Amino acid sequence: MTAKRSITVIVNGECLTGEAEPRMLLADFLRDELRRTGTHVGCEHGVCGACTIIIDGDAVRSCLMFAVQADGAEISTIEGLATNGEMHPLQKLFSEHHALQCGFCTPGMLMTAIDLVHNSNDHSPGAIRIGMSAALCRCTGYVGIIDAVMEYARQVHGDAAVTGDETGGGRNDG
Ligand code: FES
Ligand code: FES
Repeated sequence: MTAKRSITVIVNGECLTGEAEPRMLLADFLRDELRRTGTHVGCEHGVCGACTIIIDGDAVRSCLMFAVQADGAEISTIEGLATNGEMHPLQKLFSEHHALQCGFCTPGMLMTAIDLVHNSNDHSPGAIRIGMSAALCRCTGYVGIIDAVMEYARQVHGDAAVTGDETGGGRNDG
């Protein structure tokens, strides 16, 4: 058996330490070692987006990263979105727009959307559709999800930023 290593990460502002074998996925480390089970695991090979979290400011699929690679990183997960028992504005919009049913995909959807709205320069409807295609939902359909994310982008960047191209011109991380 391979020796475990001590890994320390900042999760939603909290400094947490756990142990992981070098082959342990970051998603499993968060869930099984740190007991932060809000991050879901679906496909385990980078396709579904359910495990999406934000590491050092960028969205990452935590099933495609080893825990040892995250040692020292700052991580945001679904558990950190609400503050003082109050849902994050994007969570409220998901509820208002009926953007979830079973909720399995929702943690990854929300973290993908947070990254898209805050880190992208293109918030046209088309760009939001393309950006959100990084996360798969098996039961809701995407209309409510896209509506919720577009309204959140309007709240953050203003109405003018969320108009224009319906087809999308690709993501601009510039
Ligand atoms: S579980 Fe990571 S992308 Fe599906
Ligand atoms: S709400 Fe069920 S998979 Fe998306």
